Amino acid sequence: MKVCLQTYGCQMNKLDSALVSSALTDAGFSLTQSVKEADVILINTCSVREHAEQRVISQLGHLKHIKKNKPNLVVAVIGCMAQRLGNKLLEHEAVNIVCGPTQIPQIADLLKQALEKNEKRLAVTEKILQKTSESQNQTLETFESTYGVEDKQIPSQAFVRAMRGCNNFCTYCIVPYVRGPEVCRPPEVIIEQIKKLASEGIKQVTLLGQTVNSYKYKKDGRSWCLADLLDAAAGVEGIEWLRFVTSYPSEEFFDDIMQVMAASPKVCNYLHLPAQSGSDKILRAMNRHYTAAWYLELLDKARAIVPDIAIAGDFIVGFPGETEEDFQATVDLLKKARYRNSFIFKYSPRPGTTADKKLQDTVPADIKQKRIATLLEVQEEMSGQLSRDYLGKQVKVLVEGLSKKSHINTAGDNNPQLVGRTDTDYIVVFNGPASLTGHFAKVKITKTSPLTLFAELL
Ligand code: 5AD
Ligand code: SF4
Repeated sequence: MKVCLQTYGCQMNKLDSALVSSALTDAGFSLTQSVKEADVILINTCSVREHAEQRVISQLGHLKHIKKNKPNLVVAVIGCMAQRLGNKLLEHEAVNIVCGPTQIPQIADLLKQALEKNEKRLAVTEKILQKTSESQNQTLETFESTYGVEDKQIPSQAFVRAMRGCNNFCTYCIVPYVRGPEVCRPPEVIIEQIKKLASEGIKQVTLLGQTVNSYKYKKDGRSWCLADLLDAAAGVEGIEWLRFVTSYPSEEFFDDIMQVMAASPKVCNYLHLPAQSGSDKILRAMNRHYTAAWYLELLDKARAIVPDIAIAGDFIVGFPGETEEDFQATVDLLKKARYRNSFIFKYSPRPGTTADKKLQDTVPADIKQKRIATLLEVQEEMSGQLSRDYLGKQVKVLVEGLSKKSHINTAGDNNPQLVGRTDTDYIVVFNGPASLTGHFAKVKITKTSPLTLFAELL
């Protein structure tokens, strides 16, 4: 039986998809990229913005037509939308299975049942805001440590979950309602997994969590925080680079984490620390527990400990009640923060969240659009300035593979164009042998643009 797996959303979802692919292969399924060839279409979905959901709904509409000629095709929806919509999604004509993020260990069985009996099946958590039960955690742990998580798309890199869920309840955010409360994975399990990955040739591990910097675990009288986890992971032979995403602006453990970053050559000098807004009024309405000034001080602290740290941010524009003045405060923060890159989104009301229940989506679409464009422009100027500092420098990159765009090779050799990343997460494009894929290379930067560096291989 052939499964075509399509993934939307964040790294967490990509990691779930990697686990699911591995589990399905183990259960005797084979994977295909082709919808035509597939017996099962498995869609791993995201609910973070309405747009992400709309893409899935239109894909389901398309599959409904395909099913007219191919009635035995099984369509399974997994991930955040599955948990959010549950039965409503199951009612869709095209859908056979709806399976939430907590239920993915059941996916192979659910597919087998659907292929045998043409029944609709729902597997989601009924009370998602309640603490997950021990047995549920255990099932997820066993699933997670049994199946391979190496990122098949980028050789020698892997993602490892440090924690699931989120307890923060930012008023705009759907995550706590689809991924449930925060659960930190035991440190020894994480380290064991990293050792296994290293023995399979993985060189870079990225630790994942919605607020990964708040990782904590108590065991045998010892307390672990993310800094301890990074330190232990850095001790694993074969692992050369460690990253972690995403962080929440908080003082707890912050110094310790920055100290390990400064001290360990393996911990990449990169911090993704979303601010979301530069207006204290909006930050309060978002239930973010800091002010703009405090956030900027935190960045100063990071830079004092790790001088060449690259910092990336996220912003939401057009949050309910955001005035021109509030927006100017965001522009101001963006300028002062000196981000190497920012991810900027239009506010999208998510059903069930506090912002959606209590606040009107007052900012018109065209104003949201204008504010995004303004922020992007300011960010591009900053990114351009920061990347110019790299000109003429020699840097180490981890090579990800052939560059997607077929640029003209001007080096006069027969090498293809490759892309790699610096430890500060800059994309570097250069000519070199394809055999460098998955390996480190030394390059010299010859040209820069805001988000991409161009280089020659040394
Ligand atoms: N609307 C727009 N953007 C959102 N994000 C999270 N929820 C929403 C929403 N309802 C953004 C935040 C977060 C990133 C992953 O997505 O900036 O950091
Ligand atoms: Fe990831 Fe959040 Fe989207 Fe779920 S809703 S896939 S956790 S970004």
